[in-house]
Amino acid sequence: MTKRLVILVSGRGSNLQSILAACHSGQIPDTQVVAVISNRPAARALALAMTAGIPALTVDHRDYGTRANFDAALQKQIDDYAPDVVVLAGFMRQLTPAFVQHYEGRMLNVHPSLLPAFPGLHTHAQALEQGVCWHGASVHFVTAELDAGPIIIQAAVAVLPADDEQSLAARVLDAEHRIYPQALAWLLGGRVALAAGRTQWREPPQTATREAIAPSLESSP
Ligand code: GRF
Repeated sequence: MTKRLVILVSGRGSNLQSILAACHSGQIPDTQVVAVISNRPAARALALAMTAGIPALTVDHRDYGTRANFDAALQKQIDDYAPDVVVLAGFMRQLTPAFVQHYEGRMLNVHPSLLPAFPGLHTHAQALEQGVCWHGASVHFVTAELDAGPIIIQAAVAVLPADDEQSLAARVLDAEHRIYPQALAWLLGGRVALAAGRTQWREPPQTATREAIAPSLESSP
């Protein structure tokens, strides 16, 4: 039976695009994006969804007095589409524990850092500030604590001496676009699940597929 994804967005929608492409190409098999929901009416991701013929809805957080009321309204919209998995793709809202609990084990997020390093915002600036050699992206199950859920896949990106926030962000985003569809394919295919608060593998992937992406190192000393 075709699996159903509801994707939550707030902005640009490039991860949405990579997931749509992966559904079309069969990288995520037998799966359909049944709705895209934004908390911001002007999100470019909504326009992308409409162009793709996917229901595009707004639940504007400014219309709700409390986080709990907003989450309740959002949950109702999501559940109207009966998703197998809820996908946070650049959704810039903190979620209440009750909401997170409702989708336990079936809600993923992508975060632009090698978690547990740099949760929250401005991850690329923090990576440059700290002088780390490796930065990257993580896809994880969503738990009540922000950016702290069990990790499914990460991609590491080398930080180059000439990098600024923009150049680093671009390479990390490229990594996000590759690992998010992979994590979704694993989850929907039953290869990975959340159990007892941890990532559990039924059929663990090869280490090589939990890849490190680096430009080739200079050969001279
Ligand atoms: C991504 O970098 C994602 O990791 C972060 O917000 C950004 C969203 O980008 N949470 P897009 O809307 O998918 O282009």
